[in-house]
Amino acid sequence: MTETTLSLKEAEQEVQGLREQINDHNYRYYVLDDPTIADASYDRLMQKLKSIEADFSELITPESPTQRVGAAPLKEFGQIRHELPMLSLDNAFNEDDLNDFDRRVRERLGIGSQVEYACEPKLDGIAVSLLYENGVLVRGATRGDGTTGEDITMNVRTIGSIPLQLVGNDWPARLEVRGEIFMPKEGFEKLNQRAKTRDEKVFVNPRNAAAGSLRQLDSKVTAKRPLDMYCYSAGIVEGGELPEKHADILERFKTWGLRINPEVRVVTGASACADYFSQMSEKRESLPYEIDGIVYKVNSLAQQEQLGFVARAPRWAIAHKFPAQEEMTVLKDVEFQVGRTGAITPVARLEPVFVGGVTVSNATLHNMDEVARLGLKIGDTVVIHRAGDVIPKVVRAIPDRRPDDARDIELPERCPVCDSEVEQDDEAAARCTGGLYCSAQRKEAIKHFASRKAMDIDGLGDKLVEQFVEKGLVSTVADLYKLTVDPIASLERMGKKSATNLVSALKVSQKTTLARFIYGLGIREVGEATAQSLVSHYRDLEAIKSATTEQLQEVDDVGPIVAAHIEKFFQQEHNLEVIDELLKVGVHWEDEAEPEEDVAQPLEGEVWVLTGTLHNMTRDEGKAALQKLGAKVTGSVSAKTTALLAGEKAGSKLTKAQSLGIRVVTEDEFVNLMQEWQQ
Ligand code: IVH
Repeated sequence: MTETTLSLKEAEQEVQGLREQINDHNYRYYVLDDPTIADASYDRLMQKLKSIEADFSELITPESPTQRVGAAPLKEFGQIRHELPMLSLDNAFNEDDLNDFDRRVRERLGIGSQVEYACEPKLDGIAVSLLYENGVLVRGATRGDGTTGEDITMNVRTIGSIPLQLVGNDWPARLEVRGEIFMPKEGFEKLNQRAKTRDEKVFVNPRNAAAGSLRQLDSKVTAKRPLDMYCYSAGIVEGGELPEKHADILERFKTWGLRINPEVRVVTGASACADYFSQMSEKRESLPYEIDGIVYKVNSLAQQEQLGFVARAPRWAIAHKFPAQEEMTVLKDVEFQVGRTGAITPVARLEPVFVGGVTVSNATLHNMDEVARLGLKIGDTVVIHRAGDVIPKVVRAIPDRRPDDARDIELPERCPVCDSEVEQDDEAAARCTGGLYCSAQRKEAIKHFASRKAMDIDGLGDKLVEQFVEKGLVSTVADLYKLTVDPIASLERMGKKSATNLVSALKVSQKTTLARFIYGLGIREVGEATAQSLVSHYRDLEAIKSATTEQLQEVDDVGPIVAAHIEKFFQQEHNLEVIDELLKVGVHWEDEAEPEEDVAQPLEGEVWVLTGTLHNMTRDEGKAALQKLGAKVTGSVSAKTTALLAGEKAGSKLTKAQSLGIRVVTEDEFVNLMQEWQQ
């Protein structure tokens, strides 16, 4: 039966059924996060509805799911006066501010007991108001100045997760829902990527992108932008009632198809608020959207009413802000650092600035391509970004603030440390050609050799290595093992005792494993995993030393570039001399056991990640145990991860694994499993 043969009555019934199905699927998809049909089947329902509506235009209503996009562009936005003002929030910048807030709340309420708070992420987006009349979305407005906002009805209608028609029928006849429209991080990145390839303007952050997308006079443009919304409070409520606690109102919203932030929690007392704050600080990076703090709200509406408002903010809520992740400062100079493999990195010397919770005075600029991309000059005012424990970055310069005497940044032609020539390699990197003649490369090579994952020389820190090289006590890694107590004891901040300790630590480190030794040599692109693969494949040093580029590529994870670096390393006479010297001064390891042929490793093909604190073993021991059983161990969780071993205080990796549905193993479970696997 084709659609045109339907009678009006049949069409009406059909349209109603389809709309109900589509709304129900939207609800499952956006609110419950539990879709029950494939995208293609959903598209078919929409197509069917569209085709019936095309034949029976009298059945089209504004709340039909087909009617999200299509209105003609506006000339300008209309103004909307908020019947109830949209307030702002007072800020707390630390735990003292939070405790003061809690104290004021309790004093005003005249209670000694703890107060119940709803804790929610403070979304970094645009505050909006949605008005539903008889369950139908009739108006969307920006917050504006809190009293008057702009009419963005046509634009909010294009946002898939905002219901045009509320689910159920127990909503108040007039209901104003407030919340934040934002652009998820992933959508923002994609939007900017696309803008870049088309040479269009990129947005500086998701918040600006969300604001720019909402302020489009042509709603067809908004419809193409990845916007989303979480609802966080009610405004007008007429012809119906809402629950008496804030968190219950949000739950009720959810039943009506309105999206609620899944991180909302109800807690008791200020210290529980502070706990929530630290948990969310950890989780912040892994959330799919940006937040700039936490909002604590007194949960009981009766108590909220009792507390009332002051100026433009409620006394019953406060925004606890994360330290700003972006700040402006001045680029005072650029210096060039020489790394272990000679790579020359421009480093920004900054006017110290407090950002992301710490004072930053240096930031890496990676390479000269990055300097050019940022269009930087010395003297520029720059924006520094520091998120979580991530290395601070210069994200952009502010051209308007460039002083007249701003200077160009130039790559030196000769190494700033050893004066050897600098060559540009095929990638963006510039390199000092001095090799181990360059004291900077020597220092870095020795630091790497001594580091925890290499020879693990206890007590041999960076400062000491620098002194050894500067004083001429050590020029190759083998010289370390020839050190005696007296010359060490005479160095800055060293005494007889620490010198003796270092000499014994050096002795202890002589017994190592071949994989640590290979890693410690600092061959370009050979990290721990590659070193381990080389050892598993060849099992002895001589075999690795004499392998050709072609043979090396048979090793897991070794491609032509890495293979070439390895071959080149072992072809250089001075490297072979240092290795011989190391063996002569007593560095040794046990032979690698031949793996038993044909016995499948229990964790063959699996990819594990370790995180958090372990109690029965160190993380390195856990890692070694997993590798012995055939697993590959990597540093970050991705779709390829088989399992995550999560110790105590596991943070963002755990969250990510959970969100990807990856198996999470506790330390206790792991210990049991190890016993099983080793049998
Ligand atoms: S409640 C009277 N909850 O923060 C309380 N606001 O400075 C009004 N915001 O303009 C707001 N996330 O844009 C509330 N979970 C949240 C929020 C939130 C972000 C924004 C909102 C408002 C500003 C207040």
